[in-house]
Amino acid sequence: MSWSAPAIGNSDWRDTPRRQKLLSCGSAPWRSVPVAKKMYDRLFSPVRIGGVEIKNRVAMTPMGVNLAAAGGGVNDDIIAFYEARARGGIGLIISEICRVMDGAGAGEPCQLAARNGGDLQGSSGSSTRCNNYGTRMFVQLHHPGRQGSVFCGGEQPVSASAVESPVNGEAPRALTIPENRKDRTGLRDRARIAQMAGADGRRAARRARLPDQQLPVAVSQQA
Ligand SMILES: Cc1cc2nc3c(=O)[nH]c(=O)nc-3n(C[C@H](O)[C@H](O)[C@H](O)COP(=O)(O)O)c2cc1C
Repeated sequence: MSWSAPAIGNSDWRDTPRRQKLLSCGSAPWRSVPVAKKMYDRLFSPVRIGGVEIKNRVAMTPMGVNLAAAGGGVNDDIIAFYEARARGGIGLIISEICRVMDGAGAGEPCQLAARNGGDLQGSSGSSTRCNNYGTRMFVQLHHPGRQGSVFCGGEQPVSASAVESPVNGEAPRALTIPENRKDRTGLRDRARIAQMAGADGRRAARRARLPDQQLPVAVSQQA
């Protein structure tokens, strides 16, 4: 038995001219056509982030999918993954976490990487394929800090202080101040590598990253 909408009040709204008009526009009957149209017009209008023009406001948030090369780097699978989203018309792709160094810097076994010039070629292939569809790509540079794992990078995780991660329960090694400085300049240099590889922008991972752990008192005991 098929479902039929109930009559409201004395009138059967199913057959009103207004409903017919709404249906012919493909909009929800409870929302007025001008409002819905305005919303979609805005969603599909260009927007600018810094110097980068993005063709619409549909953005893909970063997602680690473990499709990239084992040990870090681009491969055909991760390129195909991003290309499929670009083909679908998305305006901006923010990449999954991209490691800037191996060992304690590994966030996932199979993830993007911007460690050195060797990673340039593969990464530029991924950005170019997305740019072919007018899609912009931001790379999310990442160092897991104390949320890394010896099982992933083969090294004890590092952080500002030796405060255990609530996520994996592994105690990190406290970085020395010179090591801290080196990691910060390392992140800046890797941002340049990502830029040279054709990334339209970069985003530092919001959580689970070393620079954040250098700030909060709960995690950093360094003066
Ligand atoms: C499988 C998976 C992987 C994710 N990987 C990342 C990541 O690499 N970097 C990041 O900043 N956020 C990551 N996130 C968080 C998402 O980008 C997003 O912020 C989160 O899913 C909240 O959005 P939602 O409420 O629409 O799900 C991931 C989420 C999922 C489900």
